[in-house]
Amino acid sequence: AVAAAVVPAAGRGERLGPGAPKALRELGGVPLLVHAVRALARSRAVGLVVVAAPADGVSEVVGLLDSHGLDGKDVRVVAGGATRQESVRLGLAAIPPDVEIVLVHDAARPLVPVEVVDAVAAAVRAGAEAVVPAVPLADTVKRVEPNRGGPEPVLDTPDRSTLRAVQTPQGFRRETLAEVHEKALTEEAAGGLPPVTDDAGLVERFGGRVVVVPGHEEAFKVTRPLDLVLAEAVLARRRA
Ligand code: CTP
Ligand code: MG
Repeated sequence: AVAAAVVPAAGRGERLGPGAPKALRELGGVPLLVHAVRALARSRAVGLVVVAAPADGVSEVVGLLDSHGLDGKDVRVVAGGATRQESVRLGLAAIPPDVEIVLVHDAARPLVPVEVVDAVAAAVRAGAEAVVPAVPLADTVKRVEPNRGGPEPVLDTPDRSTLRAVQTPQGFRRETLAEVHEKALTEEAAGGLPPVTDDAGLVERFGGRVVVVPGHEEAFKVTRPLDLVLAEAVLARRRA
């Protein structure tokens, strides 16, 4: 079964600083979004890519993707939403009903190796309902009582060997992903849904089972200016 991929790309990129929406910012002269879509299109597991673009930038994104020729893959563009979760839901709604496996990949992870995409899709094909690529942490992590700017009391230090930093693409049985997004919408309307920052988190919240497969250091998210410096260096090394 061939998978479809949803690419949430409607964020503003506030942490990256002033400028165009993050997905349209350039890396090696090519928009981050184009890198991300290419990385997915390189996988034989992926047959369709749906991009959730900034709502006021749909035609710009269509033009951008056209001009960068994506080797015959089916790439569609829909308007994204006000939150990442809404963007994913809107992208998912544009996937034909017969597609059984859906990957969700951040436009802000332009350099994900195709091996990660393949491994996530394969794990879903092998029977998992939700799969996330992840890497061990380099830093020790402490839970604190948040106190912006001031000293923060430490609550405890989780055992680092049990922690993973989670990346994308995350892979799902389509039914599972659609169902948890639907439930999240209902819960939100009812008033109470603490923030969930990834799609697998929604699966966990509603009792589903999520498994981790190895991610890759080059699948890091471009969030702050320093990440763009690193991304340029990784790209230069690839091109050398
Ligand atoms: N995203 C989206 N729709 C939103 C918000 C985020 O599609 N309303 C996407 C972003 O475009 C990005 C991915 O979700 O590809 C991960 O989000 P993040 O790294 O937080 O990107 P931004 O929200 O753009 O950045 P920031 O939080 O710094 O503003
Ligand atoms: Mg954000």
